[in-house]
Amino acid sequence: MSKRRIGVLTGGGDAPGLNGIIEAAGRVLLRQGVELIGIEDGFEGVFEERNRLLTLQDLEGIHQNAGTLLGTSNRSGTKGREKEFVEKISKLSLDGLLVAGGDGTFAALREVSSAFPGSVRMVGVPKTIDNDLSGTEITFGFDTACSVIAESVNALRVSAEAHRRIMVVEVMGRTAGWLALGGGMASYAEAILVPERPFDRLKLLEFLAQKQKSKRGLVIVVSEGASALGEDPTVAFHVPGSPESARLGGIGQKLARWIESETSWESRAVVLGHLQRSRHPTTTDCFLTLSMGVEAARMILEQKWDHAAVYRSGHVVRAPITDLMGSPKLITSDHRWVRLSQALGIFI
Ligand code: F6P
Repeated sequence: MSKRRIGVLTGGGDAPGLNGIIEAAGRVLLRQGVELIGIEDGFEGVFEERNRLLTLQDLEGIHQNAGTLLGTSNRSGTKGREKEFVEKISKLSLDGLLVAGGDGTFAALREVSSAFPGSVRMVGVPKTIDNDLSGTEITFGFDTACSVIAESVNALRVSAEAHRRIMVVEVMGRTAGWLALGGGMASYAEAILVPERPFDRLKLLEFLAQKQKSKRGLVIVVSEGASALGEDPTVAFHVPGSPESARLGGIGQKLARWIESETSWESRAVVLGHLQRSRHPTTTDCFLTLSMGVEAARMILEQKWDHAAVYRSGHVVRAPITDLMGSPKLITSDHRWVRLSQALGIFI
């Protein structure tokens, strides 16, 4: 019997833990004599035929590094190039593909599968710091990004108090507020503004006026996709060709300027940006990626194609890969984290 050949691809924005998936799955597969082909830079490496053979030496120890050994890209999808995609993949003579990606990656693969059913056999792993993928309760990278936010808020509070200021901390997350809520709650930010709960400008001013009576400074965490009631999110720029072309951003500065104009509280905005994706993964994320990586490799060995390793009710389990292709998972109004924040007196 000829050697089994599996391709590995990381797609979309990088997230701490991608290397953990590659190392964990790779270790299991290589131990079973599988040939591992690393595809570079996500879909770009498929179209441009850039790939390389991976050995155990390449993989051992990479789990602790952020980024991805293979490189990634969120610039281009497969739209209109589905046939070419299938041809390029079949040229690689793979038995199947291991894909770690977010909604853009899986939406693109859904297009390929519906145009050419059964053309690409794959096993998926859900990835994004935003934690907004459907079908899984947690995505890896989220815990690490929340740690970056929480540490930043705790640090910035010191400067806020020193200067009698409000620090507005803008965080990532696109249309979902999980990062703002998780990181903001863990650091007891005074206010958390998320896209799912457009804020009432008047109520926010009343809250700040109340706080100013007893506090020198405070921290507001705002999602890049948040907006006031009846207003649109702030778009920073567009990336033509990207599956989701709009890049959100700018609300933090707008908010800080508005607060300063409406109150006697000096305000500064800090954008955490890509620092949220660049920290080495936390132990929690390492546990998650090694569990997902091993489970994904087991599915590959069992040829359980078109499934994904997802996290549900405290365990990494298998689910149809189509579960990851639904609309983004958003914060519901009665989510327990919302109620916890309210119980702490946080403005949300
Ligand atoms: O989806 C992950 C994410 O980090 C979002 O939170 C953010 O809006 C976007 O990617 C930024 O993308 P880019 O890497 O193109 O700046």
